[in-house]
Amino acid sequence: MPEIVLKNVSKRFGKFVAVDHLNLTIESNAFITLLGPSGCGKTTTLRMIAGLETPTEGSISIDGTVVFDADRGINLPPNKRDVGFLFQNYALWPHMTVYQNIAFGLENLKWSKDRIAARVRELLSLLRIEQFEKRYPSELSGGQQQRVAIARTLAPGPKVLFMDEPLSNLDAKLRMEMRTELKRLHRDTDSTFVYVTHDQLEAMTLSTRVCIMETGVLQQYAPPLEMYNNPANRFVADFMGNPTMNFIDGELLPDGVLSFGGLRARMKGAEALGARKIVVGIRPEYIHIDASAPLKATVYSTLPSGMETTVRLAYGDTLLTAVAFGDVDYPADSEVGFSFHKAAILFDQQTGKNLLRAPLEI
Ligand SMILES: Nc1ncnc2c1ncn2[C@@H]1O[C@H](COP(=O)(O)OP(=O)(O)OP(=O)(O)O)[C@@H](O)[C@H]1O
Ligand SMILES: [Mg+2]
Repeated sequence: MPEIVLKNVSKRFGKFVAVDHLNLTIESNAFITLLGPSGCGKTTTLRMIAGLETPTEGSISIDGTVVFDADRGINLPPNKRDVGFLFQNYALWPHMTVYQNIAFGLENLKWSKDRIAARVRELLSLLRIEQFEKRYPSELSGGQQQRVAIARTLAPGPKVLFMDEPLSNLDAKLRMEMRTELKRLHRDTDSTFVYVTHDQLEAMTLSTRVCIMETGVLQQYAPPLEMYNNPANRFVADFMGNPTMNFIDGELLPDGVLSFGGLRARMKGAEALGARKIVVGIRPEYIHIDASAPLKATVYSTLPSGMETTVRLAYGDTLLTAVAFGDVDYPADSEVGFSFHKAAILFDQQTGKNLLRAPLEI
């Protein structure tokens, strides 16, 4: 089973650095997402692993075989890397039935008719599209077409499956359904999945590990919940989670007290960091609205969704986002109590680096 190793992989287009010295090990059977804002180098990274783009420097190996090495002049073409692709525009052949679409690539590989028939059946069943076998793509819904495209990509049994925003053309409900299907599919095949998305929720919910990039530079590579709970820096903290984390500028005073947003607090371990300018990061779900809490704020606005309500609280000049679970609402301008729970994160104001994660003691 394939383990993919990238060592110091860079890609420059002229002077522009699209991917900068990327080091990454993708474990066998992992479901990895490459996550980050538009233009951060996700597609370029994927294309380099697949062999569709030549790195400027570095080396890449798949399953112990060096497929690219700038210094040794090794560069295997995509068809020698045993990989499959699924792109955002997954055009099926309109004049072929579902069966023919899935079988086509296998015919090109000169598989026998019986072997092709068995494999197509297997995929139709795996993706739950048996009933559409004889239909043409135009007779299918977007989600059904998507499943055919996935079946077609999986047909030759690639060791690694690359997907570049494959769900972005689908509506929200279908996207959700396909995420479930993809996760299930990953379990049912023994392929390694490398998935590109700029949607943090998709990355959180699908992957075993997330690789988050900004302007070609790897920011953090960790399991999604670890990244959510203990982001390496302010960029990662801000990118993961919706509603986004509260960031409040402040100061860590020489005596170890934190002063931020009109509040004073202590955090275990903060004394050791030394006086400096900091940013306090607090997840909205760790701010509880609680009538008996001594801290009081004014309700600025609320966004009830039924399952939860996002509440903007004004504490002096500071606006805080809190999340209240359940079917609750608060009148604007009313006074509520609030308290901090679980951990907050201290970021260095200059570098954005995560300095400390601990509960706030008010
Ligand atoms: N062939 C090229 N020539 C010059 N610059 C390129 C080329 N391909 C990509 N780039 C640049 O490299 C950077 C990374 O591009 P890439 O396509 O990897 O971004 P991405 O993270 O996939 O973004 P998106 O989410 O918008 O798809 C971008 O700034 C892009 O403009
Ligand atoms: Mg892209």
